[in-house]
Amino acid sequence: MSIDAPPVGDTSPWSSSDPFLSGAWEPIHDELYVEDLPVTGEIPPGLTGSYLRNGPNPAFAPRGAYHLFDGDGMVHGVTFEGGRARYRNRWVRSAGLEVERRAGHAIFGGLSEFQMPPEDVVAEVGAMKNVANTHVWRHAGRILALMEAGRPTEITPELATVGEHTFDGRLVGPMTAHPKTDPETGELIFFGYSPFPPFVRLHVADPAGHLVASVPVDLPAAVMMHDFAVSRDRVVLFDLPAVFDVQALLAGQPGVRWEPGNGARIGVLDRADLNAGVRWFDVEPFWMFHVLNAHDDGDAVVVEGCRAPRLNVAFGDESLGEPVEPLLHRWRIDLAEGRVTEETLDDRAGDFPRINDDLAGLPARYGYVAHARAWDETLVAFDGVVKHDLGKGTSVVHSYGPTARAGEAAFAPDLGRSNEDGGWLLNLVLDDADRSSALVVVDAESMEEVARVHFPRRVPLGFHGTWLAEGASTNNHRRGA
Ligand SMILES: [Fe+2]
Repeated sequence: MSIDAPPVGDTSPWSSSDPFLSGAWEPIHDELYVEDLPVTGEIPPGLTGSYLRNGPNPAFAPRGAYHLFDGDGMVHGVTFEGGRARYRNRWVRSAGLEVERRAGHAIFGGLSEFQMPPEDVVAEVGAMKNVANTHVWRHAGRILALMEAGRPTEITPELATVGEHTFDGRLVGPMTAHPKTDPETGELIFFGYSPFPPFVRLHVADPAGHLVASVPVDLPAAVMMHDFAVSRDRVVLFDLPAVFDVQALLAGQPGVRWEPGNGARIGVLDRADLNAGVRWFDVEPFWMFHVLNAHDDGDAVVVEGCRAPRLNVAFGDESLGEPVEPLLHRWRIDLAEGRVTEETLDDRAGDFPRINDDLAGLPARYGYVAHARAWDETLVAFDGVVKHDLGKGTSVVHSYGPTARAGEAAFAPDLGRSNEDGGWLLNLVLDDADRSSALVVVDAESMEEVARVHFPRRVPLGFHGTWLAEGASTNNHRRGA
């Protein structure tokens, strides 16, 4: 695929009443490049680089039932330079999307309703599309659009698609959308899960981006595994009972089922000897999409994440039946005593937890979690960000406005400040009142808005975003590049 390929351009606009294809999730149909966006407030001089946010934006009306996780990845980028901001959005031009563009309509099914594509398409790109729609991560100077059921897709700083990245052909299987960069060593640690044994593989890439370790991990069953935790010394895996069922998927049924009878286990590996195996700890079944952070504390590893009592996303026609709220939670896995102790840190529903990534794997004091105005069975409306002081057990809420629909707040460090919260939280905010969109910059220290960068048109809600500091080769680290 040429990186000079012309934009997807305006696909024939279409609409749907599906809650994840309308309202705040309604896809857009164009790719724009706009210089010098209007700004309310002032862009901090120290904020130099690009904010990228990924999310599902199907180019064509879906075949059959749509699942939010199915949509083609579209990356929205704002670059700050010289106190000005420019915007660009591009689809990730996956091999599957290219086949659909040639056909002029959707060909692939999704997680809620699988559809077998024609044989020649399966031979060319496989039975499922690698939509690369979940996250964006930079390591060793390479920007990767990530989706957990496929390989990473490399994109350029201008958001053109280079193609799937295989780590020189060494990566076997898919790659999680939530890799961790060790701020001290520069290593990239990630896993991939598969419906076929080995169900999990753990990988390490060195600071130059070469895959230097791949370790299979045995699980009793294939499960969906969205995130994991890495501390300075350990890797923590979560074997939770969102069980993957390929036969059901091929039969047109949902490919993921909540099966608490499968049990739940937390597994710990020693980063110094990944081949030494996993030490597993049985816990009550729960679900977690996202980890905030982890750190070592002597013989224990402490993990914080957003824990829900069960899987809180429906697949197929299944309904959750009730709101299932994730709460910020802490696990302390004591390897000497052989037990796990837990505590819930907040009684307000929230997700999309982030830290200053300079503290990834280390004792971070501050955590930033999306605040929900509403969390019911069909509507999750994030409208702000909660700054948790994990040391003191206190918190501060910043609201983006009474009709705001926000997403994840990504942390951009201010190189002029050395304190952990010396930086800014960047969040792409949609206003339900007038359907306008803006990138809102909040000072993470004061938790006050300092700038609002106005987009030329609405941007749908999405998944994860990342700050790419100018001149760095990892996301945003002060240390190590
Ligand atoms: Fe995620």
